[in-house]
Amino acid sequence: MKKLYAVLGDPISQSMSPQMHNDLFAFYGVDAAYHAFQVKTEELSDAIKGLKAIGASGFNVTIPHKSAIIPLLDAVDPLALEIGAVNTVVNQDGRLIGFNTDGPGFLTGIQSEMPDIFGKRILLIGAGGAARAIYFTLAKAGAARVDIYNRTQERAKALIDSSPYSHLSNAVSLQQVQEELPIYDLIVQTTSVGMYPRENEKPLTLENLSETSVVTDIIYNPLETQFLAAAKKKGARIQNGVEMFIYQGAIAFEKWTGVFPDTNRMRKNVLQQLGGTIC
Ligand code: ATR
Repeated sequence: MKKLYAVLGDPISQSMSPQMHNDLFAFYGVDAAYHAFQVKTEELSDAIKGLKAIGASGFNVTIPHKSAIIPLLDAVDPLALEIGAVNTVVNQDGRLIGFNTDGPGFLTGIQSEMPDIFGKRILLIGAGGAARAIYFTLAKAGAARVDIYNRTQERAKALIDSSPYSHLSNAVSLQQVQEELPIYDLIVQTTSVGMYPRENEKPLTLENLSETSVVTDIIYNPLETQFLAAAKKKGARIQNGVEMFIYQGAIAFEKWTGVFPDTNRMRKNVLQQLGGTIC
């Protein structure tokens, strides 16, 4: 019988996951279909029960359900519990098991530019849900420092204080970050600043950036944010948000099928989809 996979979110119509995963299912000869469902917060619990009742093999959840889903699952992987967010669910013999592949997806993606995170000094910009997944993953991977700059400094402090990694981190002010920019090996931009339709904005200027730094932005629309363009101009190596997106999907696909998929194929698929939607 054909297997069912899904993504639940609100909004969901722009999701690139159905096309990406359906292409992989066809390519690997898996008899399965992946469908996007718009689910309101108050209907999440019923939606999960429904997917379980009909025997869906697995699904993704995205904004705004990544935290709310946790108490609705039968078990949650320790990293996802620590992050406090699940984006991937596997149906294991009728039990729904939650994972977070956003953090690991980011880590795998950035390893093409920075193979070893161990001992690296990292600056994270932003303190929302995406920042949280990346923060825990980088701290666990052995970073020497993971400082956080956020418009609302209190929120950066709260993220750090809620973690077992507070000894690695400072919530830095805008002035501090502008002065200390050259000490960071890796700078990770996780806010929505610079995303379409506000693509002319940057979360901070990069006057003092060292050309030996790697700079990454998790935004993929536009493919090159003003922030990445400024980093490139300073001679730094850059990476856009396509990598995190495809690797979170690749790790989810592997959990569902046992096959780690061809990420070059995924990248082509996603760039083609973005080509059609970028304004
Ligand atoms: P997500 O879960 O996608 O990370 P979020 O939880 O809403 O989204 O977090 C958004 C992040 O973008 C936050 O770090 C937010 O900063 P604040 O905590 O100060 O709100 C940041 N952000 C959003 N708009 C911003 C803006 N115009 N300038 C600076 N930071 C902004």
